[in-house]
Parts: sequence; C-alpha cells; structure tokens
Amino acid sequence: MQDLTQRSLGTLLLAAALLAGCNKEQPPEPAPAAPEAPAAPAPAPTPPAFDASAVQQRARAIFAPLPVSAESASNPSTDARTALGRQLYYEPRLSKNHDISCNSCHSLSAYGIDVRTPGAKTSAGHKGQLGDRNSPTVYNAALHFVQFWDGRSPDVEAQALGPMRNPVEMAMPSDAHIVKLLQSIPGYAQLFKAAFPDDKDPITFANVAKAIGAFERKLVTPGRFDKFLRGDTSALTEPEAKGLAAFMDAGCIACHMGPTVGGTMYQKLGLMKPYPTKDEGRFQETKNEADKFFFKVPSLRNIEKTAPYFHDGSLPQLEDAVKVMVEYQTAKGKFSDEELQNVLAFLKSLTGELPGDYIKEPAALPPSKTTPKPDPS
Ligand code: HEC
Ligand code: HEC
Repeated sequence: MQDLTQRSLGTLLLAAALLAGCNKEQPPEPAPAAPEAPAAPAPAPTPPAFDASAVQQRARAIFAPLPVSAESASNPSTDARTALGRQLYYEPRLSKNHDISCNSCHSLSAYGIDVRTPGAKTSAGHKGQLGDRNSPTVYNAALHFVQFWDGRSPDVEAQALGPMRNPVEMAMPSDAHIVKLLQSIPGYAQLFKAAFPDDKDPITFANVAKAIGAFERKLVTPGRFDKFLRGDTSALTEPEAKGLAAFMDAGCIACHMGPTVGGTMYQKLGLMKPYPTKDEGRFQETKNEADKFFFKVPSLRNIEKTAPYFHDGSLPQLEDAVKVMVEYQTAKGKFSDEELQNVLAFLKSLTGELPGDYIKEPAALPPSKTTPKPDPS
C-alpha cells in the first residue's frame, strides 16, 4: 500500500516536472517518417518463460521446510517416551468400552484422519455418539501454535488430556480409573519407568498425556514441497509451481503460511462476506464478540488426503474448499479455470511421506485378572 502511494506520488512529481519543462522549451521536432517497409507477418507473441526459481525465492520468505520433529524442551521425545506414547496412542482400553483409541479417529496409516465411515463428516465416539467437528489430522499438528479448530488447547500434551475423558469420545469415568487400568496391565510398569526415569510413581494421568504428546511431536511428513523450498526447483512440476504462485498472488498466504502452510494464527471464516455456519468457533471458548467465527487457520500439509474439509466436515471435495476460500476469504473472489487447476496441483504437492516404521502398531499388552472389563453402558 505504502509502496503504491509512493509510486503514484513519484509519477505525479515526474508529470509536473515534464509539464513545467514544456512551458519553457519549444516542442521537439517531429521525427522523420520511417520509410515504407513491406508488411511482414507479425511474429506470434511468445509468452514469457515460466521462472520457477523466482517463485521459489518468494515462497522461501513465506513458508519453511518441516523440521524433523516438533521439539519441546519440557517434554523431550526420547525413544522410551515415544515408545510408550505409541503404545498408548493405539490403546483401545483407554476408552470406556475398550473399542476406541486415538487411532480410531486419527488413523496413522491414513494421514491421521478418521476413515472408519467413508463419507462421514464427524467422528463416532463411545456408543456411536457423533461429535460436532471434523477430526483434523494429527500429522504435523504438534507444530501448530495451538490445538483444535478453536485453539482451546495450547499444545499436544494438553490436548491429549481431553479425548479420554470426553463423554462423546472415549468416555473414561475419571483420571483415577485410567491410572488404575494402566496399573493393572503389567507391561505398562516397565514402559512408564523407562519413559519417566526420574518419577517415583510414573503411572500418572499427566504422564499418559506427556508420552502421547512426545510421540505426536515426531509425526512429521516432509515431502516434495520441502525439497523445493530447500533449493530443488525441479521438485515441483510447472503446474504445481504455477499453482504456488497463484496461491501467493491470491493472498492465501495472508493466512496459510509457515512450515505447515497454516497453523500459525486465528482468522475469521467469512472474512469478505458471512460464511453460513452455526459454529461460532473461538467465540464458544472466549465469549468475546470479536472472536465470532474465528478458527485456527488449518495446516494444508497433506490436504489432499484429509477430506472432508472445514471444521464441520461439510465439504467432501478439495476443489470446493478452494472455491469457498477464494470467494469468502480473499479480495480476488474467483480463480480462472487454469488457476484453479494449478492451485489444486500445488495443494496436492503438499502430500508428504508417512513415517513408516515409527507408526507401526505395537502388539497389545496382555491384561491381568484385575484389569477392568469393557463397559458398553
Ligand atoms: C471419537 C473421535 C476422536 C478420538 C477418539 C480422539 N480424537 Fe482427537 N480429535 C477429534 C476431533 C473431532 C477433534 C477436533 C475437535 C475440535 O477442534 O473441537 C480432534 C482434535 C485433535 C487434535 C488437534 C489437531 C489440530 O490440528 O488442532 C489432536 C492433536 C488430537 N485430536 C489428538 C488425539 C489423541 C492423542 C487422541 C487419543 C488420546 C485423540 N485425539 C482421540 C476426534 C477424536
Ligand atoms: C483470512 C484468512 C484465510 C485466507 C486468506 C485463506 N484461508 Fe483457507 N482457511 C482459513 C480458515 C480460518 C480455515 C478453516 C475453515 C473452517 O474452520 O471451517 C481455512 C480452511 C482452508 C481449507 C480447508 C482445510 C481443512 O483442513 O479443512 C483449504 C483447502 C484452504 N483453506 C485453502 C485456501 C486457499 C486455496 C486460499 C486462497 C484462495 C485460502 N485458503 C485463503 C483462513 C484463510
């Protein structure tokens, strides 16, 4: 904006100077007419060659390659801690009826989303009860500045405390019940001791959340986009790089930026005009008018694999999500067909590699006689 103002001011001054000059001097002699030349067919205008490295330069100032893990000084992802976290992540006995684990709604082999019911907008928890928001992916989530669509948890450790006790998710009656259950499964004693060697009594609810958090901190999925940002211009195809340029030109990057292409701020859904949704987003948490319809800007990493889209899972197609975004969130309003195809190609290039061995489901630990039974009530 400032740049623009300065530029128009400069043009005005230049024009004024030229006018002033004209007043004093005689108009210049007209140039002699050029000799008639035989009319040659005009050469077809060649479009300027697409410059992927220029796009790369711009992109580097806005995005960043994914780190190897989302390190936390207060909860280091040691091997012992991630091993315990993995076991707990896949543990269905952390649910009231022993039938739901974190992996049920965030399947690690399916890019971290719920794939149990194809076409479902939201996830079924205890007794098939449906939540009212779409399950976001756990991949790269530890890198977000806050957790949940409305950011009501500061980090993955705090987030992990929620689902086990949530009555429509895993529905465990109390923290004490969770600790009792884990104490009754002999294999856990050793895993907790190794993960929290300084704790006298390591099987605590807080340590359950810490171990799961430590595990999630390494659920990172680098891909071709990271190679591109690191300097390999050929890592994206021409349509993908053009899509990246269109994504930047349209102003998507005002919100979707940083290493996870999102996850760095809250923004209003319906910035340019009201978007029809009953969910008031962050307002439900803060009761602050200014937060109405504000959501965490989601990451677009692996976006092709994490349908359906939006907080309510209302959009099954990525193309529709992009159309809504350009219309409701940007001044551009609409992409041309070609731009839309390129932007979709770019978004699909954000699919990364799953950490194969790291996410392998461990064998279930055998129960003991005192292990509580499943409770379908
Ligand atoms: C019944 C389905 C269900 C289960 C079980 C479940 N989640 Fe979730 N998870 C969700 C939903 C739905 C949300 C989004 C809720 C919201 O934003 O209000 C969510 C959000 C999250 C987020 C935030 C991601 C982001 O981008 O903000 C993380 C991390 C997460 N869950 C991890 C876990 C872990 C770890 C467990 C196991 C302890 C778990 N979930 C169990 C459905 C589930
Ligand atoms: C003003 C901020 C803002 C701008 C600009 C913006 N977005 Fe978004 N984007 C959001 C928010 C907020 C959401 C979450 C919507 C919700 O909660 O339902 C979102 C969601 C998305 C989603 C769905 C993600 C998911 O996991 O469901 C896609 C895809 C997307 N944006 C692409 C784009 C594209 C492409 C552009 C540019 C045309 C763009 N966005 C511009 C804020 C923005």
